[in-house]
Amino acid sequence: MVKTNYYNSIATIYDQTRWMSESVAEDIADAILTLVDANPNTSFLEPGVGTGLNILPFVKRGYSVTGIDISQAMLDQFRRKVQQTPSNLTPSNLTLIQADASELPFSESSFDVVLTVHMIHTVSHWPTFLGEIERVLKPEGFYLNAQWVVPPARKVFESQFKAILLQYKETQVPKRVDNWIEEIDGYFRGRGYQAEYQMVKEWSVTNTVAELLSYYQSRAYGFCWWVPDDIFYRVMADFEAFCADYYGSLETELSSTAQFELWIYTSSQAA
Ligand SMILES: C[S@@+](CC[C@H](N)C(=O)[O-])C[C@H]1O[C@@H](n2cnc3c(N)ncnc32)[C@H](O)[C@@H]1O
Repeated sequence: MVKTNYYNSIATIYDQTRWMSESVAEDIADAILTLVDANPNTSFLEPGVGTGLNILPFVKRGYSVTGIDISQAMLDQFRRKVQQTPSNLTPSNLTLIQADASELPFSESSFDVVLTVHMIHTVSHWPTFLGEIERVLKPEGFYLNAQWVVPPARKVFESQFKAILLQYKETQVPKRVDNWIEEIDGYFRGRGYQAEYQMVKEWSVTNTVAELLSYYQSRAYGFCWWVPDDIFYRVMADFEAFCADYYGSLETELSSTAQFELWIYTSSQAA
């Protein structure tokens, strides 16, 4: 698994460049707790936990939460947020470990719920990683996977950026798997798991063009990382000129609906 991690360099701006808010995360936590029929002893593991955007509500509610991430800077951001949370928080229920998710440092059947959110595309050998999830999950446990779908207005913005990028012939777009959901679904169904889908939450997201441009300038997204610096700055200059013309003003607001979708896997032993 590749150890280099760009997330270290964007950890401090990560949350603002995504589209999850605290209240949305609380609603999603409500839905997940119902889904897994949680009791006070239910334990959660989030590999690739990042800054804790998804799992912080579970920590606040006193559940036993373990987060693993390869990026120390992302974990530091998470710790900072925990320290800023009002005093009813008992941080002793939170364990954060810097580790590679393809070698989870836990024994078999350690967790009731394993949650991954927009993470599997970042690991270099995903079948090994899924095998690890299966190993540390209790037989009656739940594996929950969410692959964020970029809200439509931001997706259009992204495709406009990529179209300009492709005009620079010297750039090589890396090959990547697009159909993660199918790959993961195939893996777990093939191993006898039951699969279910739930649309957990829909909410509106609005950004100005200027905000989105600033996130791109900070190279907050994976598709900006592999572009060599000199090309990246030229592409950004072209893209800003394009946006000023296309959107009329950089203060134009782009709105669309974000979705948090969950794919839920349970072992047939749990039924
Ligand atoms: C797109 S972020 C998602 C973070 C968080 N799950 C969220 O929804 O905000 C991907 C995270 O996976 C972490 N990551 C990437 N490869 C990893 C690996 N091999 N082992 C553990 N964490 C990894 C990154 O450091 C980053 O924090």
